[in-house]
Amino acid sequence: MRKIIVAGNWKMNKTNKEAVSFLSELKGLVGGINEVETVIGAPFTALSDAVKEVEGSNVKIAAQNMNPNESGAYTGEISPLMLKELGVEYVILGHSERREYYGENNEFINAKVKAALNHGLKPILCVGEKLEEREAGKTEDVVANHVQGGLDGITAEEMKNVVIAYEPVWAIGTGKTATPEQAELVHNFIRLLLIDLYGKEIGEGVTIQYGGSMKPDNAKELISQKNIDGGLIGGASLEAKSFSEIVKAAL
Ligand code: G3P
Repeated sequence: MRKIIVAGNWKMNKTNKEAVSFLSELKGLVGGINEVETVIGAPFTALSDAVKEVEGSNVKIAAQNMNPNESGAYTGEISPLMLKELGVEYVILGHSERREYYGENNEFINAKVKAALNHGLKPILCVGEKLEEREAGKTEDVVANHVQGGLDGITAEEMKNVVIAYEPVWAIGTGKTATPEQAELVHNFIRLLLIDLYGKEIGEGVTIQYGGSMKPDNAKELISQKNIDGGLIGGASLEAKSFSEIVKAAL
């Protein structure tokens, strides 16, 4: 059985105070749910208090990015050591906004995935095609390139701690969700690729989340697809009630 993970990606939203108040409300809403791993990707400034707020509950905290180096002259960056010491458990890597606005390429993202694993953090590796790539029939090529590039050199044993998030760029923040069938086709493609790279047992065990305009009213149908193992949610994760409804839809 694969782990179902519903994770919020707050992006550049919520001050520290807002984050703590959200998490206090969320704990009450998803408190008894252990079948779904509930994760919140908070901004760096809120991570310390966020980890303290969820302590002893079933909610886990993710960072939204990370520099692959442990320390050094990288102004404005945050290292895996810093995240680990706070008690952060997951780190979202290779999000399309980072690829697009900050020029992150597979090589850099791969270095981050390796650094996260080396420091006991679980990477959520984001992959996905842009609209023009889909229209040009390149979805599988792009997704395969992101998966293989991001996972270069990662061992089968390490894959037990890696999560993949398929986020078609054209569905992010647009209200345009991939249909469950469209999403499942790509998830199945990623699954087969993982099986090819790591063997059946490991490939079948990797959680593959869907991201892109997932909302309380479409989450159930998406997550009920065979190879969709949860969601990575942007807009609908900013309000505790709607996010908790997505967590419940994954039950
Ligand atoms: O990482 C989550 C994401 O990019 C999806 O955002 O707002 O379409 O749910 P949204």
